[in-house]
Parts: sequence; C-alpha cells; structure tokens
Amino acid sequence: MFRPSATFEMPDTTLVPELTEIQQSDLIQRIHVMLREKNAVLITHYYTDPILQALTEETGGIVSDSLEMARFGHQHPADILVVVGVRFMGETAKILSPHKKVLMPSLDATCSLDLGCPIKEFSAFCDQHPERTVVVYANTAAAVKARADWVVTSSIACDVVDHLTRHGEKLIWAPDRHLGHYIQNQTGADMVVWGGACVVHEEFKANGIQKLQQQYPEAGLLVHPEAPKAVIALADVVGSTSRLIKATFELPHTTFIVATDRGIFYKMQQAAPHKLLLEAPTSGHGATCKSCGHCPWMAMNHLQNLYDALQNEWGEIILDGGIIQKARKPIERMLHFTTQA
Ligand code: 13P
Ligand code: SF4
Repeated sequence: MFRPSATFEMPDTTLVPELTEIQQSDLIQRIHVMLREKNAVLITHYYTDPILQALTEETGGIVSDSLEMARFGHQHPADILVVVGVRFMGETAKILSPHKKVLMPSLDATCSLDLGCPIKEFSAFCDQHPERTVVVYANTAAAVKARADWVVTSSIACDVVDHLTRHGEKLIWAPDRHLGHYIQNQTGADMVVWGGACVVHEEFKANGIQKLQQQYPEAGLLVHPEAPKAVIALADVVGSTSRLIKATFELPHTTFIVATDRGIFYKMQQAAPHKLLLEAPTSGHGATCKSCGHCPWMAMNHLQNLYDALQNEWGEIILDGGIIQKARKPIERMLHFTTQA
C-alpha cells in the first residue's frame, strides 16, 4: 500500500450560526423564492443537516448519494446547480455541466480523502505503475480525476473493478484504503492501493459495535465500505449510502445499527418510520473521536450560507477548461457503465 505524506486540519464546526425558528423559516421562504427566480435547483447529500435535506425535497431538488447527485445535475435543465455537500461533488457537477453555474454554500467544505490525495504525489505514484489502469473514487479533486482512466462511487466500485479484472486489467486504486481492500476482497482484483482514509468511517469501532449488538441482539448492522475491515466483517449489509437506506425497509429487522454519517438518519427514518436506528459507536467511552459519526465538512453547509450563496452567487466552482475536458472522460465512463449494467 502506498502511504501518502499529506496531513490536514479538521474544520471548526462551532462556527455554524445558531438561528431562531423564525429566522430559519424566513430564510427557507427566501430560498424558495430565489430558487424559482434564478431557475436554480438544490442537489444535496444525505450527510447534510436534515433542514437542508427537507428544503431540497420541498423545492424539487434531489437528496441522494454522490452518483445520483452527479447524474441529476447533468440531466436537470436548471441554469444554476447549488450543490449542498462537499467540494468534490460540486466539482463533478461542474465537470459534467461546464456551461451551468455551480454554487456551493461553502467552498471550504472538502473531504479527508480528497485532502489526502494531492495531485503531484498521486501523479508520481501513477507514473511508477504505467502498466496499470487508474481507478479513482469520486471523493477526489478534479485534477486527480483528470489523471484517471475511471472514476467510481461506492455504489458501483465493485462492479466496475470486477468488469476490469475480467478483462485482465491490473489496477491502481485511490484514495480510500478501506474501500480499496473491500473491493479487492470482493473481486479478487490485482490493485495497488493508495493509503487514504475517511475521518468519519475510520472511527467506527468493531468492539464497541459488538457490545451494542449484545444489547440489541435483534439489530441488523449497516456499514459503509469506507469503514475498517473489522467493522465490515460484522455487517449484514455493506454498501453505498443509497444501498444502506434501501436496506432499512428491505431487511426484516426492526432495529439497525448504522455505521455511516448520522445525517443519513433523516432519509432512513423516512424510508422505515417504525424502525429503531442506532448510531454505531466511534471511539468508545474515552470519547476521543475526531468526527464522532458526523462529517465536519458536510456540517459546514447551513441555511445562512446556502442563502448567501444563492443571493450573491457566491461559492462558484471555477475549474480550468483543460482539467474539465480530461476529468469528464472517466466520469462519463462511469455514468455510461451504470446505464449499461
Ligand atoms: P456515497 O457515494 O455512498 O454517497 O458516499 C459519499 C461519501 O462521501 C461517503 O463518505
Ligand atoms: Fe469525505 Fe468521509 Fe466526509 Fe464522506 S464522510 S465527505 S468520505 S470525509
């Protein structure tokens, strides 16, 4: 496994403004009006504040996983796409729709996987393995995507890698090492793996989960594949955010332990209103967790900066034309693969 040298700081989530209920509903009304006036649409990830997810639903946008966010933005006729999520999601929307304006409530909302895979180091890594096909996770910067042959999200990573492996290809995988090992395990692929990790999923602890399972022996365990191997080994279902939501109503269990960002509970509760959802433990009794089950960058999205972005057209994603052209190919390959599969 390649060990990247990148280090990064966690954002300060105490900076989110506290609003009264009246202030919140005032902002919500104004956002409704502006979306209509500007022919704009919200494209929102499951990990964001439930208020933003509800607003997205009410206004005809989409709340989804990163694959569907990419597809929806590409196909929607709006002039302005407002991506409520993290930076790589906004960049993917821009790459697929360069003629549209793409705004984000905060351009500083990024991802530990993206930060842990800087293009210079990644490019040098690829140069060491010229015979290998480069497959990168969607959670990467546009420049990293531009260096790749394929981009995948967690919902189709195994299918794409299986397809490539059956065609005899050897792969480079970046940046998430846990997802990389999971894919390798599922497909038997020959992969060299970049050593990045998600600060949220990496903190779920197998021993804490086992203790909770003793308390709730009837509970099913739902795990996102960015979690460590020991957690994945205990799971009833391993999958993308959409797959995990589906599992809450498809599986017969009435209780679930959920090892992914707790923002997803909003949609899970909607999908299975009578079921009990429990957060998977992170760093146990010592409470030493850094993220504690919620992505600090997703938490940077709130009503006030969403309003400001729309009102002033701030937070616009601007990308180099050459990067857009190169990064578009591996993303389109992914979208094409999903329509064929
Ligand atoms: P999904 O593609 O499953 O929505 O995951 C995105 C992500 O950032 C998970 O941490
Ligand atoms: Fe990145 Fe993890 Fe946050 Fe997802 S939850 S955006 S992988 S840091």
